[in-house]
Amino acid sequence: MPSLKGRDYIETQDLTTQEISDLLDSAKELKAKFHAGEPALLLKNQTIYLLFFDKSTRTRNAFETGATQLGAHAVFLDSKVTQISHGETARDTGIILGAMGHGIAIRHDLVLDEGNRFIREVAKATDVPVINMQCDVDHPTQTLADLMTIREVFGDDLRGRKLAVSWAYSPSYAKPLSVPQGLITLMTRFGMDVTLAHPPEYHLMDRCMEAAQKNAEASGTRFETTDNMDAAFKDADIVYPKSWGPYDLMLQRRDATGDAEMHTIEEKCLALNARYKGWICDSEKMAMARHTAVYMHCLPADRGAEVTDEVLDGPQSVVFQEAENRLHTAKAIMAATMRERPFTSAS
Ligand code: CP
Repeated sequence: MPSLKGRDYIETQDLTTQEISDLLDSAKELKAKFHAGEPALLLKNQTIYLLFFDKSTRTRNAFETGATQLGAHAVFLDSKVTQISHGETARDTGIILGAMGHGIAIRHDLVLDEGNRFIREVAKATDVPVINMQCDVDHPTQTLADLMTIREVFGDDLRGRKLAVSWAYSPSYAKPLSVPQGLITLMTRFGMDVTLAHPPEYHLMDRCMEAAQKNAEASGTRFETTDNMDAAFKDADIVYPKSWGPYDLMLQRRDATGDAEMHTIEEKCLALNARYKGWICDSEKMAMARHTAVYMHCLPADRGAEVTDEVLDGPQSVVFQEAENRLHTAKAIMAATMRERPFTSAS
C-alpha cells in the first residue's frame, strides 16, 4: 500500500507524482482482485462519513460500495439534513465525525471559493483522513480514475500523447469547474500535452492555470489554451469535452443571499451556455482527432448537447470503463489513507 496513512486527499497537487503512481498501482491491483472475486478486506470495522452538499451517482456509489468491499462501513450524510444547515461549523463537524470514525469524505462543489475552504477546515480540525469527493477547485478522485483509464488504453508512458480538454454545451445545469481544473493540473504531470479549449467567458481559476503551466514546465510537457474546439481536437489522442459554468457568474453564487438569487444566476448561466450550442462532440469533431483517439467524460453527460449518442455509445468511447474505475480508485484512496485506530483497554 502507498505510504499515505493518515494523510488527506484534497487536491492531486498535494501529492507527489510517486504517491499518485502508487495509488494507481494499488487501484490496478484492487480491480484485478475484484474481477477475480477475491476479497480485499483492508479496512475491517472502520467507518467513513460521506458528506454531500451536491448530488451524485458515481462518486457516492464508488465510495459506499468500495467501503463495503474493503470491510468498512460508509455513512451517507446529506448536508441539508445535518446541523450544518443550521450553521454548525466545518471545524465542529470535523472534530465530531473524526472522533467517531476513521475517515471523512466530502463533496462541496457548487460554489466557487467555498468548497475547498470548507474541506480544508474540516481537515484541520481532525486527524482522520479527509478525502475530497469534488470541490470548487479539484475533483481528484475523478481525475485519478481518468488517469487510470488513460493508462489502461495507452500504457503507462504517456509522453507525447495529446489530451484535449474542451468546454461543451449544456442546457441542464451550470456544472462545476473542478473537472477541467483537475485534468489540466494532473495530466500535465503524467507525460501528456494538454490543450484546453473554451469560449472566453469560461476561463478557469488562475491558480489552476498557473499550476498546470508550472507542472508542464517541470515535466517537459506542453500546456496550451485556445478558444477553438476544433483546434483542440486536432490530432488529439484523448478528447474530454464537457461543460462547466461561466466563471464570473459562478463566482456570483458565493455572494447570493437566497434561493431566488441562486435561481436567477443559474438562468443567466444557462442563457450564456446557449450561445455556444455548436460546442458539441459529434462524429465530425471526433474525425479531427487521431483515428485511435478515445472519448472521455466524467458523466453525467448531456446527450444531444455535450455529446451525440453516436459518440458516447460508439467504439471510441471509454466512459463506462472510466466510470467503473471510480470504484477501484476510491478503494485505493480509502485503503491508503484510512489508518487503523488502535483499541485501548478502555475501548
Ligand atoms: N463524475 C461524477 O463525479 O459523477 P457523480 O456526480 O454522479 O458523482
